Amino acid sequence: MSIVCLGIEGTAHSFGAGLVSSKGEVLSNVWDMFSPEEGGIHPREASRHHSDLGPKIIGEAIEKAGVTFENVDLIAFSRGPGLGPCLRTTATVARTLALKLSIPLIGVNHCVAHIEIGCLESRFEDPVTVYVSGGNTQVIAYAGRRFRTFGETLDIAIGNMLDTFGREAGMRFPAGPRIEIEAKQGRNYHTLPYSVKGMDLSYSGMLTAAKRLHSEGIPLNDVCFSVQETAFGMLAEISERAIAHTKKKELLLTGGVARNNRLTEILRGVAKRHDAKFHRVTPSLAGDQGAMIAWTGILQYQVGDVIEVAESQVLPKWRTDDQDILWRGE
Ligand code: ATP
Ligand code: FE2
Repeated sequence: MSIVCLGIEGTAHSFGAGLVSSKGEVLSNVWDMFSPEEGGIHPREASRHHSDLGPKIIGEAIEKAGVTFENVDLIAFSRGPGLGPCLRTTATVARTLALKLSIPLIGVNHCVAHIEIGCLESRFEDPVTVYVSGGNTQVIAYAGRRFRTFGETLDIAIGNMLDTFGREAGMRFPAGPRIEIEAKQGRNYHTLPYSVKGMDLSYSGMLTAAKRLHSEGIPLNDVCFSVQETAFGMLAEISERAIAHTKKKELLLTGGVARNNRLTEILRGVAKRHDAKFHRVTPSLAGDQGAMIAWTGILQYQVGDVIEVAESQVLPKWRTDDQDILWRGE
């Protein structure tokens, strides 16, 4: 018989709730992103957004799925990594529901959820994953019961780099989509620091240089074009090396920055060169949302990976490779 999991996501600026069945059907997926008028995200303001809007978002997810709370069999929540205040608010909502409904509670690693929702959608079994978002930039592959980080940013995440540059150029958060539109009109490439160190990369140098180009009056579309080509080229290099090294035959692109069509095109080329299948997670499942938490919650539940409310403290620094993945084979 099929069971239904309510997944609650709230690690950073977005709060989301999604319902997924054990057959892998996404029954609903509702979220709202906290977007300040200006400046970056303040963790406490974001957590207030989550506590103010959380109940409504969860109610909507239940309604859209065409079920009632009595039909929910499990509660999964994003336990980390993320911003402390946001995680605690989300966990409190999840614990309350689990206790009230007397159903199991599952703590999900946010990054692992980005991978698993991509595997559900693509039916990939063992991909090299490029996980790119506001807070993360990682190339990941499964080995020995863990999702191993093969390469990652040594400083800021790619989404953070895009958002910070965009803010400097007068764009609202999140700037990634605007930069993509600008870049399409760009024609002239201006050299920016290309920084790959072994399997890792760094974006802070090119952020500083891109800001300088902008302040020197280089047209915004050309700067955006140069930023994208440089940043995505670096990612392509380490992804290619990961594919070549692991000999895996699937390449998965996930996380909020996966919405970028140019990055998708570049990585599709990498996969093709290595005779690997490629999948970019659908935009509605690429960013932060509850369905990915719900689906990973089901996978964990099926192997007994549930937690007691009393032991469900949040893990703000929980690394991708710091969890035994009990539902996948050796
Ligand atoms: P995480 O907690 O996993 O780091 P997150 O909190 O950053 O995730 P996501 O929704 O996964 O949330 O990603 C948001 C990021 O995606 C933002 O930095 C945003 O600018 C970026 N983004 C969204 N659309 C695009 C796009 N089309 N091109 C480039 N970047 C994009
Ligand atoms: Fe995320």
